[in-house]
Amino acid sequence: MSVYLNGQFMPLADAKVSALDRGFVFGDGVYELVPVYSRKPFRLEEHLRRLQGSLDGIRLANPHGIAKWRELIEQLIALQDFDDQSVYLQITRGVAPRDHAFPQGVTPSVFMFAQPLVSATDAQKAAGVCAITAPDIRWGRCDIKAISLLANVLARQQAVEAGCAETVMLRDGFLSEGAASNVFAVKNGVLLAPPPSNLILTGITYDVVLELAAAHGIPYELRAVSEAELRGVDELWMTSSTKEIMPIVTLDGVPVGSGKPGPLARQMDALYQAFKQQVMRA
Ligand code: PDD
Repeated sequence: MSVYLNGQFMPLADAKVSALDRGFVFGDGVYELVPVYSRKPFRLEEHLRRLQGSLDGIRLANPHGIAKWRELIEQLIALQDFDDQSVYLQITRGVAPRDHAFPQGVTPSVFMFAQPLVSATDAQKAAGVCAITAPDIRWGRCDIKAISLLANVLARQQAVEAGCAETVMLRDGFLSEGAASNVFAVKNGVLLAPPPSNLILTGITYDVVLELAAAHGIPYELRAVSEAELRGVDELWMTSSTKEIMPIVTLDGVPVGSGKPGPLARQMDALYQAFKQQVMRA
């Protein structure tokens, strides 16, 4: 597997960073995960825009312009021997003696790798997944795609130990998002999701879902969704670059709606797949 580290492509085994890298010591960095279909990055511009937002959020200068990122990502994609990929890229504040405050004159560390992207099968989408709920114990800047993901890691592990795919997090009695996904609900044919804010990571998939809803006349409301409301919805979905649109069919062991993936999930997945094809042909 070929990876990219600080200016060079190399085998993974050769990619070494200092143990004093601030990513390792402080989790002081940000990342992106870009899905790649048939060797074409999906929504790259949007991912790079979100990356810039994350970098601004941690006050770290972007080491590369858009054209350079595009070039590096294309090179990385070309080096892999699989067509559908998830490209992970992270930037940390670099290597420096341990001190919380920013070091001066330090070059950020840039690391990228690609993994095979395994999309959910039709059978998996037709079965849906189970989820549990847990309090959202994260910090107040969940809109930054930070590599420090301890609360997300703990939340996802809780789901796995419950035999489920995701943990739906609740903050102060309201839906925020999943451990590594955004969460949509459907009630009486209306798509519901929390609005973009500092309390969620606005997913690229989230944006695509809302664009598709607008373009196809599916009514939606971006507003706070209370826990009580959440427990009475007709459909619940998790969305992310890797899971796409995945129906959640039980929440804390209780069936969501009919307990089967709902019609709007099926419709949105079809629209999403068609949109992907259209983008890839372009
Ligand atoms: N995570 N919210 C959180 C906390 C996430 O970690 C993710 C995705 C999303 C969805 O974002 P997008 O639609 O852009 O993938 C929302 C990625 C997949 C990850 O960390 O692996």
